[in-house]
Amino acid sequence: MPKPVRITVPDILARKGKEKLACLTAYTTPMAQLLDEQCDILLVGDSVGMVLHGLPTPVGVTLDMMIMHGRAVMRGSSRALVAVDLPFGSYERNADQALKSAALVLRKTGCQAVKIEICDGAAETISFMTARGVPVIAHIGLRPQAANIDGGFKAKGKSDGERRRILADAKAVDDAGSFAIVIEGVASDLADEITTAVRAPTIGIGASASCDGQILVVDDMLGMFERTPRFVRRYGDMRSIIEHARDCYVRDVRSGDFPGPSEIYGKTKK
Ligand code: KIV
Repeated sequence: MPKPVRITVPDILARKGKEKLACLTAYTTPMAQLLDEQCDILLVGDSVGMVLHGLPTPVGVTLDMMIMHGRAVMRGSSRALVAVDLPFGSYERNADQALKSAALVLRKTGCQAVKIEICDGAAETISFMTARGVPVIAHIGLRPQAANIDGGFKAKGKSDGERRRILADAKAVDDAGSFAIVIEGVASDLADEITTAVRAPTIGIGASASCDGQILVVDDMLGMFERTPRFVRRYGDMRSIIEHARDCYVRDVRSGDFPGPSEIYGKTKK
């Protein structure tokens, strides 16, 4: 059977204003296997640090961690476009540093693209990387990697000045050649204005239904956490399912009910 062809960067660009892009994060092979058939983009987000490694922010995530999870997601997918976040400290210094980190991630994982958060000089970096064959998703608005400066994860674009800056960021990363723009945690009218103003498809998270696509952290939408941001819709209650299974297992082990006759190997024949 021919191998299914992955969704490509031009496929994503062609979705501007058309069928919405359904995107989720993925960090492991089994989850990628479950999501691949239906999702357009699987993002190996640096949220992995908080979701799977118990970090308070993505700041502690390293390139090695992103490469390890990127490889796992590539092994579990064959159809979705896979993008991997460049972690804090691996791209902000200049375009050379960013290209070196991106090349390592692309080479070691086989993923198709990287994502970077907007920072000083980000547009130049994106243009430099794109011209050298690295497809880039830009992340604007709320920047999780800036949590230490912002004092947490705070919605953005509340003042006129900040709105103007975010709109200007969007136009700059669009002109620089980003093939998609993640807009996180901004007022919906600002996300609408950006979506109309840019050529690249916008992917909202806590932004607006009019974005060209949406993304959520998969563990948030599966209901793995007690508390989630208000923009998360829970499509499952995995936490309760796991807690229930845990309680039943512990009860059965302690009562001697598990393992039963069919769950053990027969006696040794003498
Ligand atoms: O790290 C991440 O998971 C992200 C998405 C939520 C956009 O950046």
